[in-house]
Amino acid sequence: MRDVAIIGVGCTKFGEMWERSFRDIVVEAGAKAIGDAKLNGEEIEAMYVGNMSGGQFVSQEHIGSLVADFAGLASTFHVPSTRVEAACASGGLALRNAVIAVASGYHDVVVAAGVEKMTDVETGVTVDALASAADREWEGFMGATFPALYAMVARLHMHRYGTTREQLAQVAVKNHHNAIGNPRAQFRNEITIDTVVNSTMVADPFTLFDCSPITDGAAAVIVAPAEDAKRYTDSPVFVLGSGQATDTISLHNRKDFCTFGASVAAGQRAYEMAKVTPKDIDLCEVHDCFTIAEILAIEDLGFFKKGQGGPATLAGETAIGGKIPINTSGGLKACGHPVGATGIKQAVECVEQLRGEAGKRQVKGAKIAMTHNVGGTGGTAVCHIFSNEKRRR
Ligand code: COA
Repeated sequence: MRDVAIIGVGCTKFGEMWERSFRDIVVEAGAKAIGDAKLNGEEIEAMYVGNMSGGQFVSQEHIGSLVADFAGLASTFHVPSTRVEAACASGGLALRNAVIAVASGYHDVVVAAGVEKMTDVETGVTVDALASAADREWEGFMGATFPALYAMVARLHMHRYGTTREQLAQVAVKNHHNAIGNPRAQFRNEITIDTVVNSTMVADPFTLFDCSPITDGAAAVIVAPAEDAKRYTDSPVFVLGSGQATDTISLHNRKDFCTFGASVAAGQRAYEMAKVTPKDIDLCEVHDCFTIAEILAIEDLGFFKKGQGGPATLAGETAIGGKIPINTSGGLKACGHPVGATGIKQAVECVEQLRGEAGKRQVKGAKIAMTHNVGGTGGTAVCHIFSNEKRRR
């Protein structure tokens, strides 16, 4: 297996983009990544595009062909382009497929992109489309939306470990604060614990500010063999580890849902491949689709013991400058969550941090960064570990 590096990244602004089309935003992200890698496009041998629900959000399927076509890679070069779907983990899984394609030696220069345009339909349609990432027969048809499912996880975590309403709210407060330093973030305003606790109720205990928003956005990264990376860029970022795992799609079939088994397994697989431990990670972009999801993630990935994620968050240990900065981009909560694009945006954030290009949200001296991307309520999890230094042998 060959070592793999990211040689270019691109990302659109995240938010409501009513004036832009689906194809428009993914082409913008791809063009930025190609420019960043100083390619002219002919070098690209394959594409993997993360997208959860083009059919329901923009009435468009056959996303692989569409993206290759409007990227100018279809009619002349006939580049193979594959849509990858794993609900909100589609982006992370697209990246993993691109990494495997290069690591195996099958392809050299490969694009991993992610795109979702969620605001063209009404909220009810979006919420229903998102609910299809849970078990439709046993959860969706019974009226369980995603906020409702994660609310049950939060209630159990609060009951078992004493996690408080304020600790949950602090996840959102911290991520809104981080997003102020991120020009592409959907929400760039400070909020307080009071703002969160007193906002509109969505699914008890979650109010509006415990939820990630509905977002349009696209992101792309370009991967190549590590040994060739310096041909394209002075600042390659090496992919040290990649892990993917599954769990039951429905919550009720699990022995426990205060731990997401897929997150634990994907994290461990990525750590083992990278030959690092949680202590070596300088920053991590985790899947905070709801505030409880960040607390679960920092425990499941081994940064804090089970039950300690809430107190650690309230104590500032996950802030920039804390023990382990989490979601420097603003996370899904404040940077936004265009579901198919999120996993790629997480990688873009890690690359910018490892290149020292993250501006006001820069983690000083960052050498190893991690991503954690979840599909549904943990039916899929994908983790990647990146470094600005080559793999340890
Ligand atoms: N956080 C903070 N503010 C938000 C927000 C959020 N999550 N969602 C919307 N807002 C703001 C809007 O900017 C708007 O502000 P304005 O009036 O100042 O312009 C206001 O709240 C109303 O926005 P609107 O678009 O009408 O909200 P909505 O009721 O359509 O959607 C939710 C709110 C919570 C239902 C929606 O954001 C949601 O479903 N989130 C969860 C998404 C999800 O499940 N993702 C998958 C996770 S696995």
